[in-house]
Amino acid sequence: MTEATKITTLDNGPFLVTGPAVITDAAGQAYHSERETIALCRCGGSTTRPFCDGAHSKLGFSAAERAVQQASA
Ligand code: FES
Repeated sequence: MTEATKITTLDNGPFLVTGPAVITDAAGQAYHSERETIALCRCGGSTTRPFCDGAHSKLGFSAAERAVQQASA
């Protein structure tokens, strides 16, 4: 059985994507990664978007939201 792709939100940082994924931007440009885990920028400050380059720390990016639990059907 293939492992599901896992997306983890880091407080005050990027989204970590673990597992197979193809990232496609709004222009249709596809990004492939050979890494098992990639970090996607969510602060908007990275110079290597869509990937995180650590700029969120220098910018003081703050986000620690938690997922909203959905009611079960
Ligand atoms: S989240 Fe790390 S540079 Fe944007």
